[in-house]
Amino acid sequence: MRIVLASDHAALELRGYLKDQLEKAGHETTEVGALNTEAYDYPDAADELAKALPSHDFGIVICGTGIGISIRANRFPQIRAALCTTEYMAAMAREHNDANVLALGARVLGTEQAWAITEAFLRGKPSEVPRHKARVDKLGRPI
Ligand code: RB5
Repeated sequence: MRIVLASDHAALELRGYLKDQLEKAGHETTEVGALNTEAYDYPDAADELAKALPSHDFGIVICGTGIGISIRANRFPQIRAALCTTEYMAAMAREHNDANVLALGARVLGTEQAWAITEAFLRGKPSEVPRHKARVDKLGRPI
């Protein structure tokens, strides 16, 4: 799969770790956002992800908590970003919400935990059950 990873400075290390893990698992990756540990605003990283997402299967956004970057990412109508702290949440984000972006908190999760959550997200498949599909459609309806 083609996966784009975006982060601010607070999540550089986790982003690098996940990129290596993803590549070892056979995925293609693109990194956007912070280039070094100098302060880099998380909304800017989310905006870069939104630009890159159309040429990828999934996105991963990471900041210190995962909160700020997921708030910004969800402002884009084509993005359904899910902030996950457990494998169960990641599986459900795919199954019930058809999330196309996983949000993680680098200051919240250990690296192995973050990788396990990422794997669960990538394994997940959107439910074919009509009520779930209808709810996902409602997520995108104009306000
Ligand atoms: C940066 O210090 C921090 O505020 C940011 O990474 C994130 O946690 C915001 O939601």
